[in-house]
Amino acid sequence: MSTFTVSNLSVGRGGKQVIDDLSFTLQSGRITALLGPNGAGKSSLVLAIAGVLPVASGRVEIDGQVVSGQSPEIVRAAGIAAVPEGHRVLSGLSVEDNLQAAGFQQSAADAAKAVDEAYAIFPELAERKKQRAGSMSGGQQQMLALGQGLVARPKFILADEMSLGLAPLIVKRLMAVLSRLAAQGTGILLIEQFTALALKEAHDAHVLSRGRFSFSGSPEILRQNPDILHKAYLA
Ligand SMILES: Nc1ncnc2c1ncn2[C@@H]1O[C@H](COP(=O)(O)OP(=O)(O)OP(=O)(O)O)[C@@H](O)[C@H]1O
Ligand SMILES: [Mg+2]
Repeated sequence: MSTFTVSNLSVGRGGKQVIDDLSFTLQSGRITALLGPNGAGKSSLVLAIAGVLPVASGRVEIDGQVVSGQSPEIVRAAGIAAVPEGHRVLSGLSVEDNLQAAGFQQSAADAAKAVDEAYAIFPELAERKKQRAGSMSGGQQQMLALGQGLVARPKFILADEMSLGLAPLIVKRLMAVLSRLAAQGTGILLIEQFTALALKEAHDAHVLSRGRFSFSGSPEILRQNPDILHKAYLA
């Protein structure tokens, strides 16, 4: 069991505080939905956790190891795989090379095994090993982006708007993959525009409004009280 802890995190962007003294935890085996309107700070939170954006104050820990203020490589090595919004695969490289590039921190044997596991989850990728990633459909590229995250064998996955622009059927499959990973012990932060879908899969939920949580609790409460979300999205 692993715990991922965010304590009193604040993040500034463009001279503005976009994450404001935020605290929450993620647990192994649980999906935590992070919902909220455009500009609430969801992507900024992911980028700050991933070590891409600087943290103004507060702390991010994984099982007691402080990873805030560290490089993206160290955060990844600690077991956090961020699949950022609009994540682009290396479009000039093949599917296989993209997956292998994601396993650079592991031994060749471990990386090969992890790549095979990604192929087992996404047979479409296995059928296109030599294909240039940029020539695949949006859905296939998103599978590859998630596959890259998996190759690192993360303890926690931060999935930011994975479903953007994808057909509902593919979205359902990507969700099913996340649910299966959670059932196998991965902790997941799920940022999703399809709020109903996210709330169906999630064990916990937060609503982010202007860098702060306006709701934290059971997804069931949000499902039964749509007003809570409506208010946040209209604020
Ligand atoms: N590159 C940037 N430079 C400066 N400010 C930015 C940048 N990107 C986003 N912001 C600002 O940071 C705040 C939070 O944006 P962020 O992208 O984190 O929100 P979000 O919740 O992910 O929104 P969305 O649902 O549209 O993806 C917004 O006020 C936004 O204008
Ligand atoms: Mg975003």
